[in-house]
Amino acid sequence: MKLLLLGSGGREHALAWKIAQSPKIDKLYIAPGNAGTADAGENVPLKADDFEGIRTFVLQNAIDMVVVGPEDPLVKGVYDFFQHDAQLKHIPVIGPSQQGAVLEGSKDFAKNFMQRHHIPTAAYRSFNGTNIEEGIAFLETLQAPYVLKADGLCAGKGVLILPTLEEAKKEFRGMLDGMFGEASATVVIEEFLSGIECSVFVLTDGKNYKILPEAKDYKRIGEGDTGLNTGGMGSVSPVPFADAEWMKKVEERIVKPTVEGLAADGIDYKGFIFLGLIKVDRDYAYAKAGDPVVIEYNVRMGDPETEAVMLRLKSDLVDLFEGVAEGNLDQRSIEFDPRAAVCVMMVSGGYPQTYEKGFEITGIENVEGSVVFHAGTALKDGKVVTAGGRVIAVSSYGATQNEALVKSFTEAGKIKFEGKYFRRDIGQDLLK
Ligand code: AMP
Ligand code: GLY
Repeated sequence: MKLLLLGSGGREHALAWKIAQSPKIDKLYIAPGNAGTADAGENVPLKADDFEGIRTFVLQNAIDMVVVGPEDPLVKGVYDFFQHDAQLKHIPVIGPSQQGAVLEGSKDFAKNFMQRHHIPTAAYRSFNGTNIEEGIAFLETLQAPYVLKADGLCAGKGVLILPTLEEAKKEFRGMLDGMFGEASATVVIEEFLSGIECSVFVLTDGKNYKILPEAKDYKRIGEGDTGLNTGGMGSVSPVPFADAEWMKKVEERIVKPTVEGLAADGIDYKGFIFLGLIKVDRDYAYAKAGDPVVIEYNVRMGDPETEAVMLRLKSDLVDLFEGVAEGNLDQRSIEFDPRAAVCVMMVSGGYPQTYEKGFEITGIENVEGSVVFHAGTALKDGKVVTAGGRVIAVSSYGATQNEALVKSFTEAGKIKFEGKYFRRDIGQDLLK
């Protein structure tokens, strides 16, 4: 089979690494990819949302399947673009339709979906320019801290958590006033959930589903979860508190009603569902202390969770994708590696604020026994150079989570570039 993977980050390198191991794959292309994906397949200089360019490439190269890494092409309708083209419609696209992608593209839609299908999520209301005063009155009924969410996509920046009512009111008005442009023309105000987060990944063919290994990501720049938010500084899988009993609740109360809800609503969805969950530490109207509650849906895999999850997926990912495409995912098997996996992300100095790019990266060849996934790298004059804030993820197995962590940061120490930084405490909070 010839497969085209869309995207260019650490998530896509991890997917490419896993896809390339499948005996079903004759040729893997990645568009546009990065300096690392070139080792797993062949990079194609096309942007992931250049649908016309992708169309031409797919037809010229007789591509059999397209897998979508990031949300952007999904929200822009790449699935529907294939469906509506007589020459492309027989080629499966792994990723939801544009309607399905709204689960990530609109928080208001996602909240409404969950309420309609009785999926546990924080109590909320949505507001826009026409009912600002009602929003202020709603804030006054809530307890601190206050959670405000821009309805639309904001590159992960659209959620504000405010400690006082005064600040919440001010920021609420600011958001409706265009703080995040069109994305905050509607604002979701929701109840604050107290607890610990976990990412659960589901692959569905629209009817059947498989639950992948769960993971936890670490968003803050500093050790001990301090400092500014980033795109993700590392991840672990498994998550110790996500034991069989807890995962059963996730499946019964969240996964099943989500997949059934999508089908009942007539939404074409054949791809990944990323459940951003929280194990709440007190009782709410819709969940008891210890239960899983949904914070958000994403319509793709997580980054950097994928860089740990792919290590723990023993089964052939391409076989699972075929199950999605053929609608017989129930007949495919999914097996996990029992070992722990930890991903440590190496970032550019200054990130997530201003940083320089273009520094040469050396020492990758010295890494032994861990997997190196490129995130923001590029090839320049035959050298691998930094090309983003998050540069390289180092992922390792371990008999224990701690062993995997030590392995990852030891190997990360062998990779050199000017200003490099990484956290050595990924997952430590889970072991307390
Ligand atoms: P989101 O963009 O929806 O993933 O939100 C970003 C982050 O804000 C989440 O990963 C949580 O850490 C936090 N968050 C979102 N909603 C809530 C909530 N209702 N209660 C507590 N924290 C939240
Ligand atoms: N790791 C969170 C995300 O990919 O959105």
